[in-house]
Amino acid sequence: MNTLFVGHKLIRLESVDSTNKYAAKLVSLPDWVEGTAIVAEEQHGGKGRHDRTWDSEPGKNLTVSFLFKPHFLNSQQTFLLQKFSALAVADTLKNFTGTQPRIKWPNDIYVGSKKIAGILNGTSFQGDSFKSAIIGIGVNVNQTFFGRYNATSLKNERAQDFDLEELFGRLCEMLEKRYLQLKRSDKVIQRDYHDQLFGLGEVRMYSFRGTKKEAVLQRVDEEGNAHFLTSSGAVNCAIDDVTWIW
Ligand code: BTN
Repeated sequence: MNTLFVGHKLIRLESVDSTNKYAAKLVSLPDWVEGTAIVAEEQHGGKGRHDRTWDSEPGKNLTVSFLFKPHFLNSQQTFLLQKFSALAVADTLKNFTGTQPRIKWPNDIYVGSKKIAGILNGTSFQGDSFKSAIIGIGVNVNQTFFGRYNATSLKNERAQDFDLEELFGRLCEMLEKRYLQLKRSDKVIQRDYHDQLFGLGEVRMYSFRGTKKEAVLQRVDEEGNAHFLTSSGAVNCAIDDVTWIW
């Protein structure tokens, strides 16, 4: 892989409960290295957002956690981690797999109307600055059956198998590119995240704390709140306040 530091230290695990859990143990030790990647062939306790599980057939998909030290951000800028990592996953799929991904707020990656990748980030602070950020990424690659989940994979979309090694290398490159871009300034990250948002400017059905309403997503602000326009006016939502119905 063609990177300065991301993925240089690589921990490969045949089986683990969750690469994010493994990563959390690593960053609690003194000498961990920025850019470390923990890749698992199989997770038997994969974690998703909101305490959900992340199910992935062994050996078929990418399940990986990366370690970063974003000392240049403060605690008010946490959502930038969601933005840069979502963009890096979307870049990887767009540039190397011929799919057209969109970012579904806050950080799901969709192709068409189905989820193809998910990201779970974990952070720790020292005072107001970051000590560590764990970026946990699951990409559905060669799995073809998802049961009750509204999910897809690269194989389902492109009718071919993908090389997990190669895809991992590309993901490292895109993560590093977006991370270094963020380090310089958040301007491009803010713009590109906005431009790639799923459902932006479209009338869709949402549930706002249980109340169903048509609304148009207008933007996601720097704290990660989504701004909608409804027939009864503007509504600003934190991540747990709204679910998509379509
Ligand atoms: C979500 O969409 O809910 C987030 C899913 C994140 C899954 C990845 S797989 C690698 C890493 N380890 C985990 O246990 N979860 C993340």
